[in-house]
Amino acid sequence: MEKVKQNYQMLISGKKQYIDMAFRFYPAEKNSDSLEMKWFHCTASMIYYHGEKATLFNLMDVTITKELDNILRVQDKMVSLGRVAAGIAHEIRNPLSGINIYLNTLKKITGQYDNSEKTAKILSQLQSASNKIESVIKRVMDFSRPTETKFSLTDINDSIMEAVNLTSVTLRKSGIQFSTALSDNLPKCMADSHMIEQVILNLIANASEAMQNMDKDKRINISSFLENNNIYIKVKDSGHGIPQDIRNDIFEPFYTTKNSGSGIGLNICHRIITDHGGTLELSSAEQKGAEFIIKIPINGQNR
Ligand SMILES: Nc1ncnc2c1ncn2[C@@H]1O[C@H](COP(=O)(O)OP(=O)(O)O)[C@@H](O)[C@H]1O
Ligand SMILES: [Mg+2]
Repeated sequence: MEKVKQNYQMLISGKKQYIDMAFRFYPAEKNSDSLEMKWFHCTASMIYYHGEKATLFNLMDVTITKELDNILRVQDKMVSLGRVAAGIAHEIRNPLSGINIYLNTLKKITGQYDNSEKTAKILSQLQSASNKIESVIKRVMDFSRPTETKFSLTDINDSIMEAVNLTSVTLRKSGIQFSTALSDNLPKCMADSHMIEQVILNLIANASEAMQNMDKDKRINISSFLENNNIYIKVKDSGHGIPQDIRNDIFEPFYTTKNSGSGIGLNICHRIITDHGGTLELSSAEQKGAEFIIKIPINGQNR
């Protein structure tokens, strides 16, 4: 407000011909305790009105424009930050998995020849520190998915199998029984095969995380089939399932029930499938575990 007064003084004293400024203030509204800040854009100039000197003011409430401006600026930053972060994460991840593998080996070897408690303790600390870094990197990579979708004629079963092949070893090691029931008469459809693979990978990761603390009856099944010009993919597990009261939240960005979760996985999956003109839903059938259903129209999108 001080600035406004100063400018006004300069205008009427003739030091300035014209004022053009933006300022913000908290309007004191009667009977209201709302403290909503307003942005105003103000121009003023000296004129002669009926032969007398006068000030012509023009005040415009630009609060909404300013707010939108801010949102856009933040979004812009997020996008570039995401790109940089993804690059760094990628660079760090490879040497880090090397370190983890060597640490594991070292732990085994020292266990055989050296029983000193101290060495074992240091090794465990190293290992937990490096695991922590790995999980942070995983979260960053989860968050920054490539934004451009590239559609081409795709066999959805191929994308499913790519994801399955990438995860099968890890799943077997965790004692998870994995099965597929893929229809052999799926038509090809316009889709981004990498994105679909990403979605399946995410759903498999969630399924296996939901069974982490179980010691038996760990199952994941993926099926695909065609119905009414839609391709359906179902990813079903026998994990702890999803309680009724959080079913509406799980697709929200950053919603997670895990200690080291990012809560971004399902949100990304949802966005990807929506980009394909399809839907990703949680099955409502009463059953043990969780079942996610993807529906992709084979000629639904006009691309
Ligand atoms: N297969 C599943 N079984 C049980 N809960 C699940 C499953 N998939 C997702 N969820 C729930 O949805 C939440 C959000 O998942 P997601 O967006 O992938 O984030 P994150 O895996 O990082 O927690 C999880 O924290 C979990 O509570
Ligand atoms: Mg997840």
